[in-house]
Amino acid sequence: MKLIGPFKQIIPMTGLSLKGPIADQDLKTIENGGILIEGHHIKSIGEFDVLAKAVSTDTEIHELHGDHTCLPGFVDAHTHICFAGSRANDYALRNSGKTYMEISKAGGGIWDTVTQTRKATKEALVKGIVKRAKRHMANGVTTIEVKSGYGLSIQEELKMLYAIKEADTQLPIDLVPTCLAAHMVPKDFDGIPAEYLELIITELLPILKAEKLTNRIDAFIEEGAFYPLLIEPYFNKAKELGFDITVHADQFTTGGSEVAIKYKAISADHLEASTEVEIKLLAKSDVIATALPGASIGLGCAFAPARKILDAGGALAIASDHNPGSAPMGDLLTQAAILGTFEKLTNAEVLAGITSRASAALNLSDRGQLQTGLLADMCIFHTGNYKEILYNQGNFKPCMVWKKGELVYNK
Ligand code: NIG
Ligand code: FE
Repeated sequence: MKLIGPFKQIIPMTGLSLKGPIADQDLKTIENGGILIEGHHIKSIGEFDVLAKAVSTDTEIHELHGDHTCLPGFVDAHTHICFAGSRANDYALRNSGKTYMEISKAGGGIWDTVTQTRKATKEALVKGIVKRAKRHMANGVTTIEVKSGYGLSIQEELKMLYAIKEADTQLPIDLVPTCLAAHMVPKDFDGIPAEYLELIITELLPILKAEKLTNRIDAFIEEGAFYPLLIEPYFNKAKELGFDITVHADQFTTGGSEVAIKYKAISADHLEASTEVEIKLLAKSDVIATALPGASIGLGCAFAPARKILDAGGALAIASDHNPGSAPMGDLLTQAAILGTFEKLTNAEVLAGITSRASAALNLSDRGQLQTGLLADMCIFHTGNYKEILYNQGNFKPCMVWKKGELVYNK
């Protein structure tokens, strides 16, 4: 057993509703707290002095000096950190006035990364994932969803998913793989998108199941990618096989979130273009709305209407969308803090968006909160006031990160 503390504040993110607004006053705070860990899990949380008196003599005590605040390890529920190459040229073109869609149509965009990723070996992809994931870990992230989607053929999508699986074994934090073979219609299937989908339905989905490569299927529903009706056979088959569905929805045009709701997706991500209609429908549904401020910052476009989603009663998660094209920054805490400022979100709403509500966006109930029986995934900041964390807009990094009861990062 291990006992960590005393913490000036533990913010366990427990007892909060999954949906709707949260006031900062509703955040439970444990003052002078301690966390007792057994193996990978939290054994108990309470007052440090009380816990310290009760523990057995062989308990390892990790005594902290100075003021510390402990939060659940952050969950980044949407990334594309498995890729090769750079899209610095796209970024420069966008900033000189070209749109994401224009660049994509002219041969840049996602297809450029597909070309680079297809050329890369699996080992090179693993190295890239590990490097990026370690940077996220140092920023407090203990679970990262990672999508395929730059392979766009059976063999290349599998290469990506095997790379994600291999990278996971090399990292102390968890990677959650998602198949995004329906990211765009590959050039090899220009004009015949249904044939590409048929191929991934009949050949890829069964392999994903048999090889246990992922239990999550994503699709980019958008003009220039897949339109709603086209994707239905794919989602029908994925549902039939028991996959969880998630959707890149309403990024530039609407339509995606309705599909997400129809297919009872776990989450609908992006939503920058969602109108009152989509906001209401999402709020009524069980689909988690995941805002991706990194893509808004990367593309220089509007943020998802996070405030309106919460006020309508929706569930809001926040993820980095870290990818080489639209969201190259890859800094969840900075982006979540900025979204909070522009969308007028409380500290509680932002922090829930990257902890408890983010784990719900991955359908994971064993993390995202600090509670007996859940994973001992924690990020610790050198402050006695949790409000300092978002106030510093991502410039204030954790001093320690714990994953499954182990200290994995110590500044
Ligand atoms: O989530 N929108 C589609 N997919 C990614 C972008 C990927 C890329 O540009 O390489 C996104 O923003
Ligand atoms: Fe994305």
